[in-house]
Amino acid sequence: MSKVVAITGGAQGIGRATALLFAQEGWRVSIADLDKEAGFEVIRMIRETGGQAIFMRVDVSDGTAVDRWLTLTAEDFGGIDALINNAGIGRKAPALELTLADFDRVLAVGVRATFLCSQKAGKYMKEQGGGAIINISSTRALMSEPNTEAYAASKGGILALTHAMAVSLGPHGIRVNAISPGWIETGEWQYTPRARIPEHSDRDRKQHPVGRVGVPNDIAQACLFLADSRTSGFMTGQNLVIDGGMTIRMIYE
Ligand SMILES: NC(=O)c1ccc[n+]([C@@H]2O[C@H](COP(=O)([O-])OP(=O)(O)OC[C@H]3O[C@@H](n4cnc5c(N)ncnc54)[C@H](O)[C@@H]3O)[C@@H](O)[C@H]2O)c1
Repeated sequence: MSKVVAITGGAQGIGRATALLFAQEGWRVSIADLDKEAGFEVIRMIRETGGQAIFMRVDVSDGTAVDRWLTLTAEDFGGIDALINNAGIGRKAPALELTLADFDRVLAVGVRATFLCSQKAGKYMKEQGGGAIINISSTRALMSEPNTEAYAASKGGILALTHAMAVSLGPHGIRVNAISPGWIETGEWQYTPRARIPEHSDRDRKQHPVGRVGVPNDIAQACLFLADSRTSGFMTGQNLVIDGGMTIRMIYE
């Protein structure tokens, strides 16, 4: 029987590319996302190519909805082999003006949801004797532009949760790793009526040592690597920075 991956925020962007790549590699895919049209579009795309996929409209910060989604996934597909905590939001506001409601919302969709989904999926993985959890953080967990406090805190929290859960769940055969993407252009990976071809300047490209902006498949391929114990079985609690080298480049102005 083919393996099962559950992906939050899988309807668009990095999550969409990841859902399509896993399906192409023979995984059965379960997607939770707030955007119904985009979610149904992805499962249609997967089914048209002979894959198996389910979608549920879920706010990942809502414990009851997460419970329903992962229960349905495990019951319909007979288990959960990998969970990708990918849904995330930001709120840019001057640090001294950011409202607590906005701060709390960003942390709820980032940190609280990552914990909720991992706790629920982890119970199924424990029963099965193992699994892999992949948390999508950001290079903004490690460095900042001004006025990005909520997002930075949420992504930093996700990194801390990654090593904490890796240690706690290791004895159950569950590996927990994070990916910190840099600038990933997701314009082409939105719901089709909203998708657009991105335009980047030479400056955009040249600030990356690899000479280009990232694409969702750069992250999707890393998820596939971390989900498979044959390729990453000796890795847990780690953070893969995938940013074209942007964060290791020293800048003197
Ligand atoms: N694109 C980048 O440059 C970049 C860089 C670093 C990290 N990331 C992270 O990667 C992840 C995916 O980002 P993306 O750029 O593909 O985003 P995106 O906005 O293109 O897609 C995110 C998806 O998550 C869904 N979503 C948002 N809130 C949700 C909620 N509460 N419940 C369920 N679904 C929800 C949205 O509907 C959307 O379909 C995020 O965690 C983001 O912070 C992205």
